[in-house]
Amino acid sequence: MIHHFEKGTDPASPTLLLLHGTGGSERDLAGVGRMISGGSNLLGVRGNVSENGMARFFRRLAEGVFDEEDLVFRTRELNEFIAEAAERYGFDRSRVAAVGYSNGANIAASLLFHLPDSLQGAVLFHPMVPRRGIPLPDLSGTPIFIGAGRNDPLCPPAESEELAELLAGAGADVRLHWENNGHQLSRSEVLQAASWFRETF
Ligand code: MLT
Repeated sequence: MIHHFEKGTDPASPTLLLLHGTGGSERDLAGVGRMISGGSNLLGVRGNVSENGMARFFRRLAEGVFDEEDLVFRTRELNEFIAEAAERYGFDRSRVAAVGYSNGANIAASLLFHLPDSLQGAVLFHPMVPRRGIPLPDLSGTPIFIGAGRNDPLCPPAESEELAELLAGAGADVRLHWENNGHQLSRSEVLQAASWFRETF
């Protein structure tokens, strides 16, 4: 997959897997990643799907309606890519935390839903419920920060709460943080995620 790797200075910090929103790129969240964990390796990845030229991590049938078959396929593809990148750049595959925004948060949530050992933790900015009606794996103790907007038209508050409940029900240790904003990623939620990350890792 197209990606950007930056070696960190602190081998004790997990590698951050940076996953952009629709139309973004592998470099979009590098600054956010550095705010969250200054010493981590950063692995920014570009989604392999193009929607009218905009990069995404999986196909959708309409806004907010996901192509589930493609979602599962792309989730596995991303998981395989993380393992390849760990070999190539020499980081610990078992210590990878995702930082995703919007479509990138959705595929990070999908990694947690389908492949429980894929992430050590996750920061999900404005995520949706990636899939419904499937049993979740055991996520005991997995730390997850959700940044949500009370006025987010794409991810309504009830959906952020539903996702938090599903993950907590699977044993994850979920922090749900609210902003009064819409779908945009705000500096204040990144700062909240950064302080949560310092407490947690
Ligand atoms: C998605 O398709 O993943 C969500 O609607 C968020 C987005 O527009 O990227």
